[in-house]
Amino acid sequence: MKIIAGSPKGETTARFAFEGELDGFREEAKANNFSGKEREVLVCYPRGGKRLIVAGLGKKERFDTEKLRRAAASIALRAKALDLAEISVGLPAGNRNENTRAAVEGLALALYEYKRWKSKDAKPHKLASIRVDGDPDAVRRAEVYARATCLVRDLVNEPPSVCTPRYLAAAAKAVAKKGVGIKVLDEKQVRKAGMGGLVGVSVGSDEPPRFVHLSYRSPGAKKTVAIVGKGITFDSGGLCIKPADGMLNMKDDMSGAGAVIGIFSALAELKPRVNVHGIFAATENMPGGSAYKTRDVLRAMNGKTMEIINTDAEGRLILADALSYASRLKPDEIIDLATLTGACVVALGPDIAAIFTASDKLRNDLLASAKAQGEKLWPLPLEHDYWEMIKSDVADMKNSGGRWGGAITAALFLEEFVDKGIRWAHLDIAGPALTERDKPYRPAGGTGVMVRTLLRYLEEQ
Ligand code: BES
Ligand code: MN
Ligand code: ZN
Repeated sequence: MKIIAGSPKGETTARFAFEGELDGFREEAKANNFSGKEREVLVCYPRGGKRLIVAGLGKKERFDTEKLRRAAASIALRAKALDLAEISVGLPAGNRNENTRAAVEGLALALYEYKRWKSKDAKPHKLASIRVDGDPDAVRRAEVYARATCLVRDLVNEPPSVCTPRYLAAAAKAVAKKGVGIKVLDEKQVRKAGMGGLVGVSVGSDEPPRFVHLSYRSPGAKKTVAIVGKGITFDSGGLCIKPADGMLNMKDDMSGAGAVIGIFSALAELKPRVNVHGIFAATENMPGGSAYKTRDVLRAMNGKTMEIINTDAEGRLILADALSYASRLKPDEIIDLATLTGACVVALGPDIAAIFTASDKLRNDLLASAKAQGEKLWPLPLEHDYWEMIKSDVADMKNSGGRWGGAITAALFLEEFVDKGIRWAHLDIAGPALTERDKPYRPAGGTGVMVRTLLRYLEEQ
């Protein structure tokens, strides 16, 4: 499917309407009880002419770009249901660039499908071209954002025995061909680098681990940002095995690493003025005969030791190495993304990601980027008084502080592996990484959450 910039032409046009603003199709609206509320869609033939699809935006005074993104998604889904091959979309008045970007994202993200394993009904939708009446550069950028997001969705949606650590490394290599640097460490090199967290988690699995470092450099850069992702391609819980319902969606436990790959798939095209490192550790967490055990002690790349209380708290162990590695690169900032804790999902529910950071600026900037992209992000406290919950008698820390405040103690654990002087933010995406039901412009499955937020953040440096 191609989205191109251009003024409306063709058999079907689509537009948006604020509540009560129905000029040009008043009679048709009345006959169909369409008033322009959010989620309303009307298909009509004004004055017997060409087909028009109208999506409601709700009250004009309550408008924001997320409403436009969602309304654009309903237009795309209706066009798909009508089996159309092309449509032309006109935009509402207002901030033209922001509106163009939001509409293109809504259209492109809503049309995402994952049908690789359907033997019947495998035909993709017919919508081959969508014309959007906006600035060509804004259209192109939004399409790049959407494509990067859908790449992550594909990685998450792939069955876990397909999307292994080696598969993730290969996906990163494919992305690197677009013009960014890459270094991949295999099992031997991971051991040699002293990545005891990654080795410890990986030994229970027959799949070898991988450690991936992507890099993008901009000649105009004043700053270097490292994006670090959790890449557990399947989290069984290890010997502290999860119950079946808790394990069901644990192929999504590589969503942080997926986001790193998605972001790097877009950097060469977007060319933001910032240097970026993309880092992830990838392994399965399995209960094999040589699996790591409770009361084992692992040593991370920065020398700190970690006592294993629960083999299901594996994400922080591999992130310990990834954050140590990122710190050695001496970036100005590290942002990590991880499907880290069930506790975060309990705190904020399935749709909202948490941000933990000591930096007011980083928090405000990331919250602003998330808001602009319609992604839900909310701060939780990095409460240092809770550090005692992860104190260990035998090692430098334990990998679980128990149930209470589980998202916070996980964040405190990670902080131990970020060198002082580097601004750091941790995003816990355990809830929104995967959706079990269709949501606006997010069909059931992997969502690619935080890719668009971080791309915008990087572009605004
Ligand atoms: N990958 C899980 C967290 C998770 C839960 C992600 C639900 C997505 C949805 C993580 O590795 C995990 O198992 N965390 C444990 C930690 C506990 C043992 C300290 C948890 O949250 O229960
Ligand atoms: Mn786990
Ligand atoms: Zn996990």
